[in-house]
Formats: sequence, C-alpha cells, structure tokens
Amino acid sequence: MKVNSILSVLALSATALASPKHKGHKNLPTTVIAGVEVVDTQIVRDAHDLIKKFPDFLYFHSVRTWLLGAATINANATLKAEVDLEAHALGSILHDLGWDMSENSPWVSHDKRFEVDGALGAVRWIKEHKSYKSCVWTEARLERIFDGIALHGTTGIHPYKNIDTKWITASVGFDGVNFQPAEVPADKFDSIVAQFPKETFQKGAIDTFTWMAATKPEVTYNTFIEPFGTAYVPGYNATGHRSFDRITAGYTPE
Ligand SMILES: *[C@@H]1O[C@H](CO)[C@@H](O)[C@H](O)[C@H]1NC(C)=O
Ligand SMILES: *[C@@H]1O[C@H](CO)[C@@H](O)[C@H](O)[C@H]1NC(C)=O
Repeated sequence: MKVNSILSVLALSATALASPKHKGHKNLPTTVIAGVEVVDTQIVRDAHDLIKKFPDFLYFHSVRTWLLGAATINANATLKAEVDLEAHALGSILHDLGWDMSENSPWVSHDKRFEVDGALGAVRWIKEHKSYKSCVWTEARLERIFDGIALHGTTGIHPYKNIDTKWITASVGFDGVNFQPAEVPADKFDSIVAQFPKETFQKGAIDTFTWMAATKPEVTYNTFIEPFGTAYVPGYNATGHRSFDRITAGYTPE
C-alpha cells in the first residue's frame, strides 16, 4: 500500500469517527404538510400519530414546531443537506411529552423537570419502536435528540451545540406564544398556522405550566416555570428554594 492510500484510509476513518451522526438520513421519503416538505418514514408517521392523541393546543404546537423548523431548514440548502432531518422530526414532534396532563401519563414523572421527561420519553419511545435498530438509532444520534429536547426550556446554550441538537431546540423556539420568528419564511409560517391554529396555545401553555408548578414545585424552582407558580398557584413559594437564597444567605451588601 502506498503512503498516499494509507493516509487517505486514515483520513476516511477519522472522518467517520468525527461524525457520529447516522448518514442514512439522506434520500429519505418525504411528504408535504401545510406546504412544507418533511420526512415521511414509518417512525416519523408513528410519532405524528402519537401526538395526535394530545389535546389540540399541544398537538398543534408539537406539529407546528416540526414544520416551522423544517421550513426554515429547507430554505437553506446547506442546512437541508447537513441536518439529520429524521432526528429533527422526532425531536421536534416528541419534545413536549412532558406536557401530558392526562392521569397516569406514561411520560410525566413526579421528580424531573418537564424537558427531561420529554427527552427521556422520546428516546424510550424510539427504542421501543418496532423498527428500532441500534445501528440506525445510534447512541450518538439519540443523544442529539435527548439534548435538543432537554435544552428547550433553557436559553443561551443550544446555539453552541451540534447542528442537530441546535435545530431541534431552535425549532421549539420558533413556536412561541405571541411570536412570529424572523427566520421562518413568512409564507410557510402562514400556511402552517392556518392548518394548525395558535388560538388555544396561550391558554393551554399557561394551564400546563401552572399545573407543573402545582404538581411538582421542587423541579420548577430556578426554572422559567417558577413565575407561573408564583402568579397562579395558591401557596406556591419559591423563596428559600432558589439558588439566589442559598448564595445570598448571611450576606449583607456593602
Ligand atoms: C445557511 O446555513 C449555513 C449554516 O448554518 C449558514 O452558514 C449560511 O449563512 C446560511 N445561508 C443563508 C443564505 O442564510
Ligand atoms: C415564602 O417563604 C419565605 C421563607 O420561608 C417566607 O419568609 C415568606 O414570608 C413566604 N412568602 C409568602 C408570600 O408566604
């Protein structure tokens, strides 16, 4: 073997190691929903069917998150080629399993913040899916989905993560209450919101955040859920539970 070909073999394996992402996401079947081209594999269809069982405010939010993200990614050829679109679909569609207020929800814990319930639930659901293979849904790929979901209630971290985590979290940010993101092509925003309307979203989100603060206050202190508890849950009192209280105990400002 010539030195040149040895070097190129080494370079190739280094590239493969450096890129943990499953490359089978190229040339996946697609369909069009609300004017947006999206991945149409069986596991994505089944994830979509799963969230259809949620109340409309939550189903619509979850599907808008997927579509707003996909529309923005599709508008940039570099991103469309680089993002793992199937992982993006599952991460965005399943990101709010932790919002499931139904009794005996299989997704919601009593001791974990809701983003972690969603992240653990999504990974578990993928691993239990009939099509699951560990060589396709590698641990590295699942970790990107986990992180993309787990980070969606925390600002300032996801922009510096890998491209898949970053775009799952960013897509959740595209579907805010009272908000139209500048990054999403306006015609796509309109077609998505026309098919999956936002009217019930504000009340649904506030009810859900209030329910979290009421049912598991310990995991809401120091998070963006805390003010919903303070404002809407009788008896909720974060004082004494916040990092601020521990850090400032015994301290007198000069
Ligand atoms: C497309 O996305 C890439 C990667 O994020 C970025 O560097 C580039 O500026 C984007 N192109 C346009 C036209 O927005
Ligand atoms: C909240 O708890 C703190 C610490 O126990 C207490 O000092 C404060 O009075 C409480 N606030 C309310 C509104 O009950």
